[in-house]
Amino acid sequence: MDDISTRFNPMAPDQLDNPYPLYARMRRERPVFYSPMFDLWVVSRYADISEVERDTASFSSVGALDARAEPHPEVRAVLAQAYPRFLSLVQSDIPDHTRVRAVFGKALSTHRIAAMEPTIRATADALIDGFIRDGKADLIQQFAYALPGFIICDLLGVPRSDMEQLKRWSDDKTLLMSATAPIEQQVQSAHGFIAMERYFQEQIHERRRHPREDLLTMLVPQSLGGTAPLSEQEAVCNAMDLFAAGHETTTGLIGNGMWLLFNAREQLEAVREDLSLLPNALEEVLRVESPIRGFFRTVMADTPLSGVTLPKGSRAFILYASGNRDETQFTEPDRFDIRRAEAKKHLAFGKGIHFCVGAPLAKLEGRIAFEQLLRRLPGLRPRTDEAPVFRPYFMLRGFEHLPIAWDVPA
Ligand code: HEM
Repeated sequence: MDDISTRFNPMAPDQLDNPYPLYARMRRERPVFYSPMFDLWVVSRYADISEVERDTASFSSVGALDARAEPHPEVRAVLAQAYPRFLSLVQSDIPDHTRVRAVFGKALSTHRIAAMEPTIRATADALIDGFIRDGKADLIQQFAYALPGFIICDLLGVPRSDMEQLKRWSDDKTLLMSATAPIEQQVQSAHGFIAMERYFQEQIHERRRHPREDLLTMLVPQSLGGTAPLSEQEAVCNAMDLFAAGHETTTGLIGNGMWLLFNAREQLEAVREDLSLLPNALEEVLRVESPIRGFFRTVMADTPLSGVTLPKGSRAFILYASGNRDETQFTEPDRFDIRRAEAKKHLAFGKGIHFCVGAPLAKLEGRIAFEQLLRRLPGLRPRTDEAPVFRPYFMLRGFEHLPIAWDVPA
């Protein structure tokens, strides 16, 4: 055993702060290694991550969101009230995946997403109106989580007034997935998870009685009188996952992007001068600071990868955040360059059949967020009297607090 396998701990303060030097060593010295602390095989190179994503027969997506295969017994006792398995798109394999993905293809079609642009812009403006006279704000707490949070509520068809509660439950769900918090906290979060499940059960039943023009109605199973080829359990689990996937990742994109631009002042000014640079700049943000560090897979048969064999039944962690800085794919991978030609090659949205179905929405929200912030907040800068704080999550990379300031127009 070497120190890479024992040092790997996404929750350690130095790795929450800056995990990239360790990732570079992994790619160089131990591209695939076993972490005894997490009982996971960690996959760090771009080519190996792509191979795992491609080989869906050897690498199952069941448990793709769970850092640990089994929750702690006390947590399991609470979760006994939940569905026995969490059946969502991202955690499914072919052929279930193909069936469910078709529903999502329609629900999140380019056409439906493009039609949301005016609402997204108006929502961003209303949030900015709420703090523009103050000259300072917490970008995450006052803007970056509310914008995608409200939009995913609109898309699902639940009231915006439920957003704060849904966000708390969704944070519970994320905390459970990481399985690194103290047990009492995990037990508490398990109750939040159950409450979120109940909430969406009721919503699906309500749509069955009163169909609407919203995404939840599109998830109502045929067996309940709807059109979706899903079970009730699948409809509920997918609604829960959509709320989580639809907001916290985009929160990360906005916060990480602003931070990278703050640290590259001339690139921030270039984007402000020419907003058409934004789409590529956002791809580069996703590459350099991937909001999701990685997802998990279950190994279905003994499978060789970069010189080691991953045993059947073990679990793998595919580290997009490391693949995105792989020097065989990106020149000077640690350099943030909004004009980088190969930025789009990043793995931040995954690859293959599980490629993020919400990517067009995330990119649209990201673009509008930056357009409105840069247009309306002159002299936008980080605050020097308060430090930003990273979120302490295993899978996610982003800020909990990012204090900003600007010049208030006279
Ligand atoms: C910057 C924002 C986002 C990032 C970085 C991101 C990242 C990802 C990644 C890496 C995957 C692949 C998972 C795998 O291979 O196992 C994925 C899948 C998925 N994402 Fe996103 N996502 C983002 C935004 C969104 C949004 C806004 C939505 C919904 C509105 C969404 C919904 C989904 C769904 C449903 C899947 C599962 C797709 C499948 O398994 O076929 N995501 N996302």
